[in-house]
Amino acid sequence: MRIDIITVLPELLKSPFEASILKRALEKGLVEVHFHNLRDYTTNKYKQVDDYQFGGGAGMVMMIEPIDKCISQLKSERDYDDVIYMTPDGTTLNQRIANGLSLKENLIILCGHYKGVDQRVRDLHVTKEISIGDYVLSGGELAAAVVCDAVIRLIPGVLNDETSALTDTFQDNLLAPPVYTRPAEYKGMEVPEILLSGNFPKIEKWREEQALERTKERRPDLLE
Ligand code: ADE
Repeated sequence: MRIDIITVLPELLKSPFEASILKRALEKGLVEVHFHNLRDYTTNKYKQVDDYQFGGGAGMVMMIEPIDKCISQLKSERDYDDVIYMTPDGTTLNQRIANGLSLKENLIILCGHYKGVDQRVRDLHVTKEISIGDYVLSGGELAAAVVCDAVIRLIPGVLNDETSALTDTFQDNLLAPPVYTRPAEYKGMEVPEILLSGNFPKIEKWREEQALERTKERRPDLLE
C-alpha cells in the first residue's frame, strides 16, 4: 500500500511513523507513506495556501490551486483508489471503514486547515470524506495519523501475531473481553480462575460471554 498525505504541516505528522508498529510496517516495505507540503505547490512568492472566503465571514479557506496541482501531479504518476479529505463533516471513522481502506493499493489523504478547503476541491477530486469524531481539531493532520494507524495495522504482516487484529474490539461488532497477565494475584486481586484452567474451549466461551456482557453494558448500540 502507498499513502500520500497532503498537508501544510508535515512536521506534525511525522512522529507517529517513526515509532513502533507503523515504523516497522514502513521498514518491512509493507506500506509507503509520502508527505507533500502544500506550500511546495504554490505559485505566489509568499507561498500562500489560504485566502478570505467569498461572501465574507471569519476564517480563511484553503485555495484550490495548490491542492489541485498536488493531486493532479500524483494522479498523473499512478492510479488512486481514493482521495480522502479529513474533515469534521465527513463520515465518522469506524472499524468497517478502516478494514475497507486496508485493502486499497494507493490512497491520497488531504488534511484541511482553517475553515476547510474550497468546495471545488471536494467536487473535483475527493472521493471519501472522513471525520474521526464529533469534535473539531485544529487541522486534519492528527486525524490523518489516526486513519493511517487504524488502516496500516490491518495490512497482513504488520502485526506480529496475524490473528490479533481479528480479535480486536469492534472486529465482530463486539468490544473485547477483559485481559490479564502475570502475576495471577496482585494485592489480593485475582485473575478469573477459568483463565488459569488450561481448558481452551471453556476459555473461549468465557471470553465470548464477557465480550457480549461488556458490549451490552457499554455499547448496546453495537448490538442493534
Ligand atoms: N479536521 C478537524 N477536525 C477533524 C475531525 N474531527 N476529523 C477529521 N478531520 C478533522
